[in-house]
Amino acid sequence: MPQFDHFAAIAPLYARVAYSKTSLMSELAQLPVRGRLLDVGGGTGRVSSALRDLVDEAVIADVSFGMLKQSPRSSLKPVCGGSESLPFADNSFERVIMVDALHHVINHAESAYEMFRVLKPGGLLIIEEPDIRTFGVKLIALAEKLLLMRSHFLAPDAIMKLFSSYANGEKKVHAEDGTAWVVVGK
Ligand SMILES: C[S@@+](CC[C@H](N)C(=O)[O-])C[C@H]1O[C@@H](n2cnc3c(N)ncnc32)[C@H](O)[C@@H]1O
Repeated sequence: MPQFDHFAAIAPLYARVAYSKTSLMSELAQLPVRGRLLDVGGGTGRVSSALRDLVDEAVIADVSFGMLKQSPRSSLKPVCGGSESLPFADNSFERVIMVDALHHVINHAESAYEMFRVLKPGGLLIIEEPDIRTFGVKLIALAEKLLLMRSHFLAPDAIMKLFSSYANGEKKVHAEDGTAWVVVGK
């Protein structure tokens, strides 16, 4: 049975209400960089728009056509597809980011594997997630359950573990103000 697309319903308002520290993302991703950035679960392109001038090309991959429809197609390349099976060749992007989306995907392990697969050797993958170890995020998780959003939040250590069998590069966690960034090098 097809799932209700919560994000398509809120897409026109999403970029106005959502907030994240794009300057910190830029710092952790070591931008600017020559090459391509992939924003998985990138929605309306809210974050990749802010990073667009720091890379040669920015691509957003998202399952929600409604969210992608709100993205600026003149500057970002939208691709409709799920993180569990990304429609890109191995080693295609210098940077891969995922912001506030990992807890929404159906399969964490497959999504992690796919994001790492399309990352170029020497590249960086950064996953930004609400930090489920904090009280405020536990409340958000409860609210999303009540809204039947089938969210499943992982703590930063559990996100790092997703990569443990194949990612031998640097891995680190940065956490502040209820948000965690997991950085994985290839
Ligand atoms: C909370 S929004 C975040 C959007 C964007 N990253 C931002 O921060 O503005 C979560 C996004 O993840 C997308 N999403 C959920 N499951 C997905 C999946 N399996 N693959 C790709 N995108 C997915 C949703 O459609 C939605 O656009």
